[in-house]
Amino acid sequence: MTVVPSGPPPILIAPSVLPADFARLGDECEALEQAGVDRIQWDVMDGRFVPNLTFGADVIASCRSVVSVPFEAHLMIEEPDHLIPSFIDAGCEIIIVHVETTTHLHRTLSMIRELGAAPAVALNPHTPLEMIGNVLDLLDMVLVMTVNPGFGGQAYISSMEPKVDAARRLLDTADHWIDLEVDGGISASTVEGAAYAGANVLISGSAMFRHPDGRGAAVSELRQLGRAAWQRRYDRNS
Ligand code: DX5
Repeated sequence: MTVVPSGPPPILIAPSVLPADFARLGDECEALEQAGVDRIQWDVMDGRFVPNLTFGADVIASCRSVVSVPFEAHLMIEEPDHLIPSFIDAGCEIIIVHVETTTHLHRTLSMIRELGAAPAVALNPHTPLEMIGNVLDLLDMVLVMTVNPGFGGQAYISSMEPKVDAARRLLDTADHWIDLEVDGGISASTVEGAAYAGANVLISGSAMFRHPDGRGAAVSELRQLGRAAWQRRYDRNS
């Protein structure tokens, strides 16, 4: 059965905390919630899967009670299974694992669901969509990376847009709605291409933290541009 949306999906704006002032993470989360973000993404990096090291579950847990918006853990870590429970216990409602980091993806996603969190999978730019074709029933979201993971402030890889479009069409063959997220180089100048290609969850780090008019303006601008682009996609397909 193909899920035919009754209209464009909600456009969700989620900041990456990577550019935040790590000495004031709680205050930064509060400012992001006040700016109107729909959720907050925590970029967890192990220095092995990606050439950078960030934070673990304890840091996320320390900010959980400060805000009420959902947390998503973007696990850029090798062999994540043994650490997933700690991120759920820390208050992450959504757990994103990279398909490239887990040997038994079906088992990993099932465990996330059994532990009460929303399972999601991320694909690096080189990774084909076929890798997730057999686990759509276990997914609430797919993340198509629009940069090579590890650092903020990188250039958006626009050649990922056909992959985003193909991902949206693949997800529409599932018997439930699956969000499609993009992460990396998302700004006012790139968001329309990503949303028109089918992304409805937009991760922004540098562009949001560096917006000249502040985070609230960044959230509103990304949401407005994303909605308009998705509407053009929907009208084209109707
Ligand atoms: C890459 C990170 C970044 C971050 C967003 O591993 O995941 O993509 O979230 O950074 P910007 O928006 O600065 O590209």
